[in-house]
Amino acid sequence: MVSFKTLIVAALPLLGLGLAQDETVTYTDKASGVVFNAWPAGDLTFGMALPPNSLTTANATEFIGLLTCTSPKGLGTGWCGVSLGGGMNENLLVVAYPSAGQVLTSFRWATDYTFPTVYTGNAKLTQISSATNATHYSVIFRCQNCLAWSQGGSQGAAPTSEGYLVLGWAHATASPSNAACPSAFRVGQHESQGIFAGQLNAAAVNPSYTAWAAKATATVAGSCGVTTSVAPAPKPTSQVPGVAGCAKSWTVRAGEYCYLIATNNGLSLDQLLGLNPGLVCNPLQIGTLVCLQR
Ligand SMILES: *[C@@H]1O[C@H](CO)[C@@H](O)[C@H](O)[C@H]1NC(C)=O
Ligand SMILES: *[C@@H]1O[C@H](CO)[C@@H](O)[C@H](O)[C@H]1NC(C)=O
Repeated sequence: MVSFKTLIVAALPLLGLGLAQDETVTYTDKASGVVFNAWPAGDLTFGMALPPNSLTTANATEFIGLLTCTSPKGLGTGWCGVSLGGGMNENLLVVAYPSAGQVLTSFRWATDYTFPTVYTGNAKLTQISSATNATHYSVIFRCQNCLAWSQGGSQGAAPTSEGYLVLGWAHATASPSNAACPSAFRVGQHESQGIFAGQLNAAAVNPSYTAWAAKATATVAGSCGVTTSVAPAPKPTSQVPGVAGCAKSWTVRAGEYCYLIATNNGLSLDQLLGLNPGLVCNPLQIGTLVCLQR
């Protein structure tokens, strides 16, 4: 096992932050009976229940997750997420936010500190329950194929037999836009974040795991309508409705994304999206004409 000191040294460069060793608490969800190892981390609590033997003879490939996040701006507001590998980049990210009485989730992947794209691996999330109230939203979910990941030639894992997981969290009080569709929602930057070692203890594993996992029957997909359809192959002009009335525009080049174009032009992401109704950011097609000023 890697010593905790080695872990700290290895993890420090990830976010340039010190690595806190958060306290592990045991949390039991009354409705489902699922028992979690849980870590209160800043503005959220993340928890995990694991199959038997996950701490000893077999690295788990799945877990039952608990994510409870604060909504300081009131009922149904904000978003939060966890990184199953600690840092934001090249680790599987699970994002959750309240929307229309549900809690929607999305697997995401980042290669730099900008809005993450949709994760294309075979991770699967099904919900056992979710709840939203004036101060919090919470989701309990089964996450299959979630403890090893790969995308774009990068791969990683969260090996449970090591006895701890390096985890990251992020939280924002503002709600996503385009929230109805978890594969197309947009958010600004998180307002708080952290990285910590989640110590696993015997309460994380339970012979009832299989029975608990069977309760995860809900696929909560939101409402995506046409926004999830793949954008048509780009033509050099007039992808943006109304770009004709635009005082200043920009043709998207390789490697550019909406947030970058916005900040390069002194705009917030929301302002850019406001100038370009219907703009598809994810993926942003090369050659798209984006309006910067009307
Ligand atoms: C779990 O994965 C880690 C990292 O790949 C490996 O070192 C360890 O031997 C694995 N544990 C088991 C029980 O296979
Ligand atoms: C709101 O939800 C949170 C998290 O589930 C819970 O701790 C809190 O007690 C709830 N508040 C009320 C008023 O029920």
